[in-house]
Amino acid sequence: MTETFKIIEKATQSHSLSKDEIIKILKDDNANEFLFQNADKIRKKYVGNEVHLRGLIEFSNICRCNCKYCGLRKDNNLVKRYRMDIEEILNLAQKAKQYGYKTIVLQSGEDAFFSKEKICEIIKEIKKLDFAITLSIGEKTFEEYKAYKAAGADRYLLRIETTDKNLYEKMHPSMSFDNRVRCLYDLKKAGFETGTGCLVGLPSQTIESLADDILFFKELDADMIGLGPFIPNPQTPLKDKKTGNLILAIKVMAVTRLLLPDINIPATTAMETLQPDGRIIALKSGANVVMPNVTCEDCKQKYEIYPGKAGLNNSPEEYKRVITSKIEAIGRTISDGYGFRTSRLN
Ligand code: 5AD
Ligand code: SF4
Repeated sequence: MTETFKIIEKATQSHSLSKDEIIKILKDDNANEFLFQNADKIRKKYVGNEVHLRGLIEFSNICRCNCKYCGLRKDNNLVKRYRMDIEEILNLAQKAKQYGYKTIVLQSGEDAFFSKEKICEIIKEIKKLDFAITLSIGEKTFEEYKAYKAAGADRYLLRIETTDKNLYEKMHPSMSFDNRVRCLYDLKKAGFETGTGCLVGLPSQTIESLADDILFFKELDADMIGLGPFIPNPQTPLKDKKTGNLILAIKVMAVTRLLLPDINIPATTAMETLQPDGRIIALKSGANVVMPNVTCEDCKQKYEIYPGKAGLNNSPEEYKRVITSKIEAIGRTISDGYGFRTSRLN
C-alpha cells in the first residue's frame, strides 16, 4: 500500500488528518477510487442511505457585492435584475410542498431591500407551511442573525470561498476576510446549523490552501459543507481564467466527509454543470443532499452566477422526477425528514 492509501485508511478510522496528510491525498491521483469508496462508506455509516432534497428559491439576484467570479456582481450590468415579492416567494414554497420537499433554501444576492423585518416576515410565513428553513443571504450583523433565528430560520449557508486571506481579499473587493469568519462564528453562536464551503480552482489558489479550507471546516465544526469547482463567467473579470477541476472538487468533498463524518454535504449544481452526471458521482463519493431549484423559469434564467447552470432546461416537476429516479437507481432513498445534522432531530 502506498502512503496515500495509508493516510486515507487513517482518516477513515480516526476522522483526523494533518495539513501535510491532506495535501498528500489531494496531490496524488492514484488513490482517488479508494478515497471515494471510503467517503461513501463513511457517509453510509454516519448519515445513512437517505438523500435530503431541499427546495431552492432564488428570490433576488440584486447584489451589493462585487465578487470577481460571480455573474450577479454589482458591476455586471448585462444581467437583468429581479426581486420577488412575498406572494411570489410563498407561491413557490407552496409548490415545493407539493414536490414533497421539507426544507426551503432562501437564496439571494446581498440585497439591502430585504431588511431584517422583511426577512423575518418571510421566514414566519414559510414556517406556517411546516418547512425547515435555510437562509443564504450573505453577511449580516449578529443581531440580524439572532432575529432570523428567533423568527424560525433553522440553517444558514455562507461559504468562506477560500481561507487564503490574500486571495480572499483579491477576489472580494471591499470585503474583509475577518468579517466573513466573524459571520460564521456568529451564526454558530446564534444557534444556526451553519453551512460553509469553498470554491475549488480559483485563479492562483493552491492545494495547500485547499487543505487549510478543509481544516477550517473542521475547526468551525460546520454542519454543512458545499463545494463547487470554479466556472469562469464571461461577464466577469475572471472570464479568461481556467475552469476548476471537477475531480479535485470531489476529492476535497470526499476528504471533508472523512473528517466531518456526520455532516450534510450537497452534491452541488456546479458539479453537475461541468459533467452531466456530476451530482451522482458526488452522491457516490460522500454527498447526501441535493438542492433542486424551485425558482420559476423566468427568474431562474436570470440567476446566472456562472454560465450553463445545470437544471435550467428542466421544470421543477421534471427535475424532481429525474433526480428521484437517478437517486433510486444508485440504491439510495429520498428522505421524508427535515434532514437536520443529528438524525435524532428528524
Ligand atoms: N463558479 C462557481 N461557483 C460560483 N459561485 C459564484 N460564482 C461562481 C462561479 N463563477 C458560488 C460561490 C457562492 C455560491 C452561491 O455560488 O461559492 O457562494
Ligand atoms: Fe453577490 Fe454572492 Fe455573487 Fe458575491 S457570490 S456577487 S455576494 S451573489
